[in-house]
Amino acid sequence: MKPRILRYESVPSTNTEVARFAAEGAAEGLAIVADEQTAGRGRLQRAWSSTKGAGLYFSILLRPTLAPDRWPLITFVAALATGDALLDASEVQTDIKWPNDLLANERKICGILAEAIETPTGRAVVLGIGINLTNDAFPPDLLNVATSVANESGGQPERERILAALLNALARWYSLLHEPDGAAKIVAAWSSRSSYASGKLVQVTNGDEVLQGLTRGIENDGALRLETAQGIQLIRAGDVTSVRPARVNA
Ligand code: BTN
Repeated sequence: MKPRILRYESVPSTNTEVARFAAEGAAEGLAIVADEQTAGRGRLQRAWSSTKGAGLYFSILLRPTLAPDRWPLITFVAALATGDALLDASEVQTDIKWPNDLLANERKICGILAEAIETPTGRAVVLGIGINLTNDAFPPDLLNVATSVANESGGQPERERILAALLNALARWYSLLHEPDGAAKIVAAWSSRSSYASGKLVQVTNGDEVLQGLTRGIENDGALRLETAQGIQLIRAGDVTSVRPARVNA
């Protein structure tokens, strides 16, 4: 994967722009970075607040040559690469919440949105990554659930340094995903960096369905194993929140 970066001051969404280039036949590695997004998108049709200069808003076009069961691991690759980049460039330690939120001190610092698209030259993925650089990236009422690189590092985030580290790490993990034993290695690395992978009491919401259980590891295609009162269930979509066990005063 050879990145070719296009920079914009303002776009509706870097994912939408990359998808537009993909429809015109752009090659793998076409990437867009914007200072602001006016219609940034998150998972599950949510908006992604994208204040000018307050975040790293980045999307890249991937044209994977992978078996279908490996495609969900593209978001794992993104989480691992972003974790590396934040550590290398800003000394910020992160945790990963399934499927692909990066947390610092239990608050969200980065979101990842991978969208599969059909293009004239085949199925592709637009991988979008949004990193909160300062607390201006998100509305003040999210301060209890969101954080930023500035907040966690106590310094001025260097966007270009983080971007360079991210591209580097993405190329490494993405190339590993294409190797024969890559899926297992990526799941193992992801699991070792996620407090949510195993032994965590969580609630999973998927539309109207709400499940509660203990996490019991990750399948090789990225599904979360959840031990519920009904037995082990494989979770492939939904929102995970940590549940604090009830205190027993006895
Ligand atoms: C989420 O956590 O819900 C995912 C958020 C993804 C946000 C990024 S910012 C760059 C790219 N462009 C978008 O419109 N969304 C992604």
